Amino acid sequence: MIQYQSFWFPGYRLFKNTLKSQKHFKAKDTDLIIASHPKTGTTWLNALLFAIVNRDNGNHPMNESPILSQHPHHLVNRLEDVNFGGGFFNQLSSSQLDDLPSPRLFSTHIPYVTLSESIKTCDGCRILYICRNPFDTFVSQWHFYNKVVIDLDGEQTLKPYTFEQFFEDWFEGRILFGPFFEHVIDYWMQSLANPKKVLFLKYEDLKENPTIHLKRIADFVEMPFSLEEESRGVIREIIDMCSINNMKKLDVNKNGLNYSGVEKKAYFRKGEVGGWINYFTPPMIERMDRLMQQKLQGTGLTF
Ligand code: A3P
Repeated sequence: MIQYQSFWFPGYRLFKNTLKSQKHFKAKDTDLIIASHPKTGTTWLNALLFAIVNRDNGNHPMNESPILSQHPHHLVNRLEDVNFGGGFFNQLSSSQLDDLPSPRLFSTHIPYVTLSESIKTCDGCRILYICRNPFDTFVSQWHFYNKVVIDLDGEQTLKPYTFEQFFEDWFEGRILFGPFFEHVIDYWMQSLANPKKVLFLKYEDLKENPTIHLKRIADFVEMPFSLEEESRGVIREIIDMCSINNMKKLDVNKNGLNYSGVEKKAYFRKGEVGGWINYFTPPMIERMDRLMQQKLQGTGLTF
């Protein structure tokens, strides 16, 4: 990992490309950027946003949706994977960016401070940030890194993470795109300062009341659901299509690799709230609670 602007970025190649995206990406007024810390529901929000934006006022039959035939990571390009000249993961080169249909959808784990200035200053371009409670995020990351990141590491410099080791690194903020709380708080502050520019979503809220939050998302991107769409059940159809149970069953999400070379199925594990309780010891809970209180104090953000 490489530390830059107080955050930890993965590996040399991805870091180089992140710098290129910071320097060269030119946002458009219609762009929609999904930002997140890893394992907080990025893939789910990719699918939901794609479905909302491409619903054609509900006229597009759901059973023909590209979500059923393409992994969400292939429908929403990851900003730091666009090939800005270094021969990187994504087949999408920077010269093809202009040809993407509007609104262009991107996702990113890049912290706010490292985003391209053009995203921050472009009037119409909007950011949708998703976060998740730190306990479940931690458990999801631990599973993912042990299963996937270590497999990907060709030079075998990475070793399996014990839960305790990962906990210590997490505490120090020495995790991919960490520290966690600083990542979240920076976007949270931006959403308070400029709510038209940054929408702040929580995984747990989406789980608890998806209808309300789908409407919030649709309003935010200025594609509100009409009463007629609501009465036809379009919102429910999107929720059901993008549910983890449905996504997990789709052949396209069960087989093969995404652009980053990760097994597509690794992005769909349990998708539950509160599973962390089976992993944390009481002293760990106490330490995490204390860290959370200390970091969130005065921000108005709670989990
Ligand atoms: P768990 O490991 O807790 O199951 P990301 O997409 O940011 O990598 O986050 C992955 C987490 O989101 C995983 O959490 C995964 O199971 C969950 N997830 C993926 N798709 C989902 C969906 N459609 N609905 C709810 N959760 C989903």
